[in-house]
Amino acid sequence: MSITIKDAEGIAQMRVACRLAAEVLDYIASHIQTGMTTLDIDRLGAECMARQGTVSATIGYQPPGYPPYPASLCTSVNHVVCHGIPNDKPLKKGDIVNVDVTVITKEGWFGDSSRMYLIGECSIAAKRLCALTYEAMWLGIQQVKPGAHLGDIGHAIQKFAEGHGLSVVREFCGHGIGKVFHEEPQVLHYGRPGTLEKLLPGMIFTIEPMLNAGRREIKDFGNDGWTIVTKDHSLTAQWEHTVLVTPTGYDVLTLSDGSPALPDFVHATAT
Ligand code: MF3
Ligand code: CO
Ligand code: CO
Repeated sequence: MSITIKDAEGIAQMRVACRLAAEVLDYIASHIQTGMTTLDIDRLGAECMARQGTVSATIGYQPPGYPPYPASLCTSVNHVVCHGIPNDKPLKKGDIVNVDVTVITKEGWFGDSSRMYLIGECSIAAKRLCALTYEAMWLGIQQVKPGAHLGDIGHAIQKFAEGHGLSVVREFCGHGIGKVFHEEPQVLHYGRPGTLEKLLPGMIFTIEPMLNAGRREIKDFGNDGWTIVTKDHSLTAQWEHTVLVTPTGYDVLTLSDGSPALPDFVHATAT
């Protein structure tokens, strides 16, 4: 197998899928509040997808060795790195939550994005972690252009993260996406410049760094088969965009009106 190159029609379809994923995150942003549970967030997401006419890619999703994922989206709170399963525990002031949404359009295309949500006033450390992880994702995105290598993306993220005393989770990575949820390539969030696959126009993949405030090691939370936590219980954050390689640079497909403001070093969402 190799990396698929999307044609004009595929790119147009991916623009739609990705915008819809972003709009689910906007809808959640407009409703999320203290006291709500992550199951409430799941219901908001499911309701929004139903109105869009999309379906969740995560519900029933079952890679080899995993149980079927039971919810419409992932909610990863505080020291949960990723794949948190929505539950009935109320969110409290100071919590940070990653909500990760993947939709499938009627035409069968996948759009994948995640954001951090801060519940009420959060600690300076939590705000810093979320902001730095957002910047790290965008530094990775800014590496994207034909002729650049996947290793350039990982290197930019790792250098920035570690330079700020954060660690990069190694076990999960970004991925190609299209008519398949997870396809080639793997997009590592660490690495060396000039290594790995060379980027070509028409490639579409996610960049979704998970950065920990403490050590990079992770472990399974328990026996649900999905939830991943930091081994040292330190706080962790993640952001995710789906990105197209254009003839001259990148185009971030998972943007919407409610997307958070860009870091000040980013001057264009498409180049
Ligand atoms: N959306 C996640 C990703 O970014 C995958 C979630 S799989 C699930 O690749 F089953 F946990 F939902
Ligand atoms: Co995702
Ligand atoms: Co993804």
